[in-house]
Amino acid sequence: MLSNVKSITLLGLKGHLISIQVDISRGMPTFEIVGLPGTSIKEAKERVKIAIKNAGIEFLSRKIVVNLSPANIRKEGSSFDLPIAVGILLASEKVKYVKELFNESIFVGELSLDGTIEKINGILPICIEAKRLGIKNIFLPVQNAKEASIVKGLNIIPINNLKEIIDFLNGNLEIKFENNNFNMLKGEPTYDVDFSEVKGQENVKRALEIAAAGGHNCLLIGSPGSGKTMLAKRIPTILPDMNLEEILEVTKIYSIVGLTSNEQPLIETRPFRSPHHTITSTSLVGGGKSPKLGEVSLAHLGVLFLDELTEFNKNTLEVLRGPLEDRKITISRINSAISYPCNFMLIASMNPCPCGYYGSKEKACTCTEEQIRKYINKISGPMLDRIDIHIEVNSVNYDNLSSKVETEKSIDIRKRVNTARKKQLERYKKYKIYSNSELNSTQLELFCKLDEKCKRILEIAFEKLALSSRAYSRILKVARTIADLANSDNIKQEHLAEAIQYRSLDRKYWKH
Ligand SMILES: Nc1ncnc2c1ncn2[C@@H]1O[C@H](COP(=O)(O)OP(=O)(O)OP(=O)(O)O)[C@@H](O)[C@H]1O
Ligand SMILES: [Mg+2]
Repeated sequence: MLSNVKSITLLGLKGHLISIQVDISRGMPTFEIVGLPGTSIKEAKERVKIAIKNAGIEFLSRKIVVNLSPANIRKEGSSFDLPIAVGILLASEKVKYVKELFNESIFVGELSLDGTIEKINGILPICIEAKRLGIKNIFLPVQNAKEASIVKGLNIIPINNLKEIIDFLNGNLEIKFENNNFNMLKGEPTYDVDFSEVKGQENVKRALEIAAAGGHNCLLIGSPGSGKTMLAKRIPTILPDMNLEEILEVTKIYSIVGLTSNEQPLIETRPFRSPHHTITSTSLVGGGKSPKLGEVSLAHLGVLFLDELTEFNKNTLEVLRGPLEDRKITISRINSAISYPCNFMLIASMNPCPCGYYGSKEKACTCTEEQIRKYINKISGPMLDRIDIHIEVNSVNYDNLSSKVETEKSIDIRKRVNTARKKQLERYKKYKIYSNSELNSTQLELFCKLDEKCKRILEIAFEKLALSSRAYSRILKVARTIADLANSDNIKQEHLAEAIQYRSLDRKYWKH
């Protein structure tokens, strides 16, 4: 008999409906899977065979052919185990065929040899596609049920083991999923660090507030011990809250890499990734033999923090140039290439020279011009151009450090950031972007108009600072954010002047 069971597979973050057709006929006892199965699916044969046997059903000594259709999509992963097993059970009439049920259901799950159904990755994007296709029921591993319930309107049937699904399909068992609508959004996040712990550094805090509000890349440059790492580690505490759309976007990525769980089905705070400087370019941007997502995608809609930027391999940093510009990364697979989003904010920190004290007031620099040049040039011009805000971090003096004066708490900074971000979300509703940093050249003209006086200021700055054309658009975007923080519809002279000031550091350090 021929059976037909549905499932959904993922290509990148997008789900695709797959039909699993099983034919069982007389002949040599063989088991074949066709329809562009990847190696992981070829392995499903053994798992399915043994799991069915261990569920108490004698594995048929017949000719079994499983076809995964459409054949032009390469299928990977272990989520086909369950639909293949159900297809075999159906074709061998071990479970009852109810037309509507099979037409309106999809099956996903990995089988272990004893028949237990194991958690799979990517359940959220699978459910989103199922809902879009009008699928009614999804049979899935118990461990995935909570995450699946994020998508409303799907009937979730969590399965522990193969025996359970056989009993259910034969009408001998009832399975109820208590969709207790867990508290989706926990509300105000809490952090164990706070900006109020950083004494002084008002100018740096201001720059980081602007960066957080507009999603701008930011470079902190300063001597050892000046507090760069301390400041950067507190950035998550002032990042704008995510809206539901953003939460789902980030959760989809964490879902496909298996970083979501029943305990934490939703990623509700912006990611903050800080890979070590020994990271390879493959781990940073993704790819490799069995393609993996990189740190840039895990930092999507959050922060990628590269501490001690000059310690990273120069070639590793250069591969960041593409994703920084495109906000997506294409990863090649055996016979396809898949794009993943990586719209992150880059925060980097570095010393200005090998000894760390070039330009510092507290200590004399002991490096030669040549040493400084070599050191600073580890960061290329094009890389530097992609960083909107350059800020110098000077050590705070003793009076400041020992001061008992209350400094502003993160939550108060975050309020201003949230207000400024809301203005951007409202303004860019039609454009599918979230922040000023994402404006393209057409949008830049539309939303960053300058009056004659501002144009003149910018012209003079360009001549004086010899800025690149990329710097021009970066200045405008930062000025737009400064105006948003000041609740101003137009970019005014003071906003522009402040934005220009964040581009003037490279003259001091990169003149070598
Ligand atoms: N403004 C400040 N307020 C309070 N503590 C500070 C401040 N600046 C520095 N410190 C203290 O100094 C320590 C060192 O700072 P941090 O590690 O952030 O410096 P850094 O600039 O990253 O140095 P390096 O270049 O060596 O990495 C902090 O952990 C903190 O205890
Ligand atoms: Mg540091």
